[in-house]
Amino acid sequence: MDVKALDARLGRLREAGLIDGGSVQRARVVSRLRGGGIVSGERVAEALGVSRAAVSKHARAMMAAGLGLTAVPRLGYALSEWGWADSLLPEVMVPRLLEEHHLPDPGCSRGAEPRVCLEEPESSVLGIPYLYRAEVGSTNDVLRAEAEAGLPGGALAVTEAQRKGRGRLGRSWVSQPGKDLAFSLLIRPAVPAALIHFAVVAAGLAAAQAVCRLAPEIGTAVGVKWPNDVMVGGRKVCGVLTEGSVDMDVVHWVAMGVGLNVNGDPCAYVLEGEREDAPLPASLQGETGREFPRGDVLLAFLSELRPRLALLEQRVTTALLEELRSRDVLVGRPVTVRRGVGSRVDDVRGIADGFREDGALMVRTEDGGRMALVGGEVTLRPSAG
Ligand code: BTN
Repeated sequence: MDVKALDARLGRLREAGLIDGGSVQRARVVSRLRGGGIVSGERVAEALGVSRAAVSKHARAMMAAGLGLTAVPRLGYALSEWGWADSLLPEVMVPRLLEEHHLPDPGCSRGAEPRVCLEEPESSVLGIPYLYRAEVGSTNDVLRAEAEAGLPGGALAVTEAQRKGRGRLGRSWVSQPGKDLAFSLLIRPAVPAALIHFAVVAAGLAAAQAVCRLAPEIGTAVGVKWPNDVMVGGRKVCGVLTEGSVDMDVVHWVAMGVGLNVNGDPCAYVLEGEREDAPLPASLQGETGREFPRGDVLLAFLSELRPRLALLEQRVTTALLEELRSRDVLVGRPVTVRRGVGSRVDDVRGIADGFREDGALMVRTEDGGRMALVGGEVTLRPSAG
C-alpha cells in the first residue's frame, strides 16, 4: 500500500474513533522513515505538510517508547529493519495490520481455506482497535473491562511487559518483557455457545501454523496438545487462555489470551511451585538458535487465525477438527486429564483416543470405558515399559 493510501485509511480509522490523532501522526511519520537508509526530517515534514519540529517531536516520542529509530546528527533518521519488524507500538503495527491484511501463507496451511477480502473496511481488520500498553497486569483483563463496555470484536490488547499473566487452571504465566508476546484478541463470533470450543482450538492451530511458517526448520516437531498448547518436540512454546461471556446460548464476547515465547530464555519461564509434570517451556529462539521479530510473529498468528475464525463463523468445524487431528500430539499416548480448580479437581487417566465431532478429547480409561472430555488440562505420562 502506498503511503497516501495508508494516510487515507488511518484518517478513516481516526474518524471512526478507532485510533487517536497522535498515533495517526506518528504512524504517518514512521511510514516515511521505512525502507532503510537515512531520511531527513525536512523531507518527512514536507511530505506531511508539518513543521520539522513536529517531526522531531514525534520521532523522539517513538524513540522514547523503544522504537529502533536513531537520530543521525545533521542528516535525519534511520529506522532499522529489526526495529520495524520487532516493534509492537501502534504507530508501526496499525499500518502493518492495514497493509498486510493478514494474508495467510497459501503453501503452508493444513486444511483451513484462506478467505480474505482485500477491500475489507478498516473496522473489520483483526487487530483493530489496537490497545497497546507498555506494561500491564494481564492483557485478558484489559479486554474484559473494555468488552463489557462495548469494545468491538477484532480488538487486540498487546503489551511489552505483562506482570501478572494468568494461565489455565489458575496458574501463572511468565512472559519476558521486550522478548516475548503476550496479547489478547477480542472476538464476537455469531455462533452458538456449543461451538465456542472451536474458537479455543482455532487459536492453537493458528499459533502452530504461524510457528511452522516462521520457523520451517522445526516445522515437523510442531504439534498441538489439546485443546491449544503449541508444542515443539514435547516442550511448550505457546499457551492460550480463553475467557468470555456467554448467556442463554448467546456468545457476547470471547477474549483469546495468547502467550507466545519468542526470544526469551527458556529457563526463565519455570515458576517455583509449578507442577512437576507440567511440560517444559521453550521459546522459538531457544528451539532454533535465531531471534524472531515479534511484530512479524504477531502478524503471522493473526493471518493464520483469520481463515480459521471464518471457518468457525461458517460452522465448518470439520476442517478445524481435521487440522487438529493432523497436529495432535496425544493420540495413543497415556494421559492424565485434570478437571476443575483448587480443591475441586479430579483426574481422569487413560489413553488419548482422538476427538469427537464436537472437539471433545476422547480417552480410553483404565476400566475399559471411553470418556469424552470437554475441558481440562492434559498431562502426558511416560509410557509403561
Ligand atoms: C496456559 O497455557 O495456561 C495459558 C497461558 C495464556 C497466557 C496469555 S499471555 C496473554 C494473556 N494474558 C494473560 O494473563 N494470559 C494470557
